[in-house]
Amino acid sequence: MPDSHKNKFSRRINDLTSFKVVDFLDAAMARQAAGENIIRMEVGEPVFELPSRVAKAAQQAIASGANGYTSSLGIAPLREAIAAFCHSRYGVSVDPQRVVVTTGSSAALGMICDLLLNPGDSLLLSDPGYPCNANFVYRCGATPVQIPVTPEKNYQPDLADLQHYWQESSAGLLVASPSNPTGDIIDRATLAALYEGVKARGGAFIVDEIYHGLCYGDEQPCSALNLGDDLYVINSFSKYFGMPGWRLGWMVVPEQALDAIRIMTQNFFISPPTVAQHAAVAAFHPESLEVFDLRREALQARRDFLVPALRDLGFGIHHPPAGAFYIYADIIRFSDDGEAFCWDLLERAGIAITPGTDFGHFNARNHVRFSYTAEPIERLREAVERLARVLL
Ligand SMILES: Cc1ncc(COP(=O)(O)O)c(C=O)c1O
Repeated sequence: MPDSHKNKFSRRINDLTSFKVVDFLDAAMARQAAGENIIRMEVGEPVFELPSRVAKAAQQAIASGANGYTSSLGIAPLREAIAAFCHSRYGVSVDPQRVVVTTGSSAALGMICDLLLNPGDSLLLSDPGYPCNANFVYRCGATPVQIPVTPEKNYQPDLADLQHYWQESSAGLLVASPSNPTGDIIDRATLAALYEGVKARGGAFIVDEIYHGLCYGDEQPCSALNLGDDLYVINSFSKYFGMPGWRLGWMVVPEQALDAIRIMTQNFFISPPTVAQHAAVAAFHPESLEVFDLRREALQARRDFLVPALRDLGFGIHHPPAGAFYIYADIIRFSDDGEAFCWDLLERAGIAITPGTDFGHFNARNHVRFSYTAEPIERLREAVERLARVLL
């Protein structure tokens, strides 16, 4: 932002850091628009066709004039479909009243921070982790306390970290499983220990499950919904359901938080997008779920190709990702400045990836993130060839 403008804006906003992946996305799209052949591995955005039932439901909603606002917490059929999905996937009964449909899970994450954090409070996050979370915390005048996570512990925090990093000011712990950028999951015992540990300290446990449904091995992540009903569980239509541009997510919240959240959603958003909600109901039809599950196989094939290929080139992948659609790799062999490395790859190889500094501070300059969701496997092969040309 130009300095001449900065002093006109609030400190809270001036202090926000840019979401670097979006800087790379903009640069990649500008080059594509200028006719360059860019291989897009920066953005965490599934690029798949909508299942026909979802497309039809959206068309019907438009044809029937669904142009108005809806209830602030979402339309009843969608909240019920989400509760039924939780039951079928995790065997847990969730009262649809505790399901809040949001404008992407971004709105859910922001509102949970608004709900729980006073100025001066802190929230524990993992480093590396989803970049926007720290900014949601800053927006509340609170401080993110970033827990460095290592490949030896699946890039996830555990009870010992909670004990070490918890402070007087801590209002809670936010984890994502599988996580962005590492794709790693928290095993059931660790998740349960974190939940109990946070509860014992009087804090809030927030679990981002937006990459659920995208795990490739035998181990499927346990949903935090199975642990209790006094925690915040976030999900989204952006990843497994492949509808990022429809801007729809949801959260399951403790009953006591519902009134406050209703008031926030009324004020901040009025309601989540109407046509998107009608389309999303059809995403839970067995035929649509079958389409999403098949996609997982395509993504797994991409991961299984890329991990060894990148290792052969000299990238350090210390813990192969269990899920999501990312590979977090160290670039020590090539550079100690991930941002310069990524700009250079865009320039010389026409490959867009994301620097590790987008995701935190811990060893961040030595890392980059590859996303394998936007390009088919043939293009990933071409990416590896281009990488070999410029790096070896
Ligand atoms: C871990 C995580 N949480 C939340 C989000 C926000 O997604 P959306 O607002 O599209 O639901 C993302 C987006 O990439 C993410 O990676």
